[in-house]
Amino acid sequence: MPNACISGTGFYVPDDIVTNEELATRYGVDTTDEWIVQRTGIEARRFAAEGVGTSDLALPAVEMALQRAGLAKTDIGMIIFATLSPDHCFPGSGVYLQTKLGLTDDDVNHFVGCLDVRNQCSGFLYGLATATSMVQCGAVDNVVVVGAEVHSAALDLSTSGRDVASLFGDGAGAVIVSATDEDRGVRSWHLGADGRHADALSQKVWDISKRPFIPANEEGVGQVEPGFMWAHMEGRLVFKNAVERMIGALMKEFQKQRLTLDDVDLFFFHQANLRINQYVAKKLGLPDDKLFHNIERYGNTTAATIPIMLAEAQGEGRLERGMKIATVAFGSGFTWGAAIIDW
Ligand code: UT7
Repeated sequence: MPNACISGTGFYVPDDIVTNEELATRYGVDTTDEWIVQRTGIEARRFAAEGVGTSDLALPAVEMALQRAGLAKTDIGMIIFATLSPDHCFPGSGVYLQTKLGLTDDDVNHFVGCLDVRNQCSGFLYGLATATSMVQCGAVDNVVVVGAEVHSAALDLSTSGRDVASLFGDGAGAVIVSATDEDRGVRSWHLGADGRHADALSQKVWDISKRPFIPANEEGVGQVEPGFMWAHMEGRLVFKNAVERMIGALMKEFQKQRLTLDDVDLFFFHQANLRINQYVAKKLGLPDDKLFHNIERYGNTTAATIPIMLAEAQGEGRLERGMKIATVAFGSGFTWGAAIIDW
């Protein structure tokens, strides 16, 4: 059985930087830099321009990952695309990315499987676990796992939406999971979910049990009420469960691998709120310098936070061959995941 290693990492964020102050000055949100920094650690986020879709952000991230892996696009055996903000309701963003990569061009004809993962903040780790299993069983040699989000289009950028709107940003991160005979790679993973809290962090643009599934006006034109158009979040419940589940998932992995915290060189926690991560780190007794973060610059990019961090850490020379890393995520569903990787 081959090992499944991460052979390449890449990321892309849009150019438009929106600072906390600009949420107020550009969009008129009644908020302050102080409130957002104190509660979340976020200083700025990136917003994609109108006309840019989720698969557009994913494309340069995947190209960078392929280049760092030293692979050609035709080496890709499978695409796994994690997002809660797909280009369209269906089909998934994976097939749009496949075409944008040129894999369906007449002279290429590389019709690899494309799988979309709908697991929000833990979507990347669900994708990574799936890719790892595919590679380890010998079915595929190189799997693209990309997490990408365009949140800015679906944020209530007004004072009534400020609790959610101030948290999220746009971006994409990608890794290539490759077969290797070397003694390294994804050592173990853990996935979990608690559907009792499915509604606590949700966006119910439609309800398929209703006729019509989107309320319509007298002319039959769909009318989504604000309460359904925007994400609903029970912030404190999310915070409390995030802390418990992230610690639990990490502890499970450490026990499985018979590791102590000292064995791990770097930790990559999903970037939902710096205060959640600092709380988890304190509970575990982790030193600050082992915790990579970038939430201050990008906010919460949901499925993209972990692959963006991996790509940045590798680019900065902080993540090097031979290091042991641990990663963990928690989010809507509730769903969560963790993985231990020998880089
Ligand atoms: O991947 C999972 C994604 N989500 C999370 O991880 C979120 C987890 N939860 C959190 O991070 C925190 O619950 C928040 C940062 C979202 C909110 O912090 P909080 O301490 O729970 O605040 P709150 O929602 O209880 O709101 C306290 C006050 C309210 O005002 P009143 O009713 O006391 O007058 C809010 O309206 O703060 C107000 N508020 C804001 N004020 C300025 C909420 N958002 C903002 C804002 N700027 N952006």
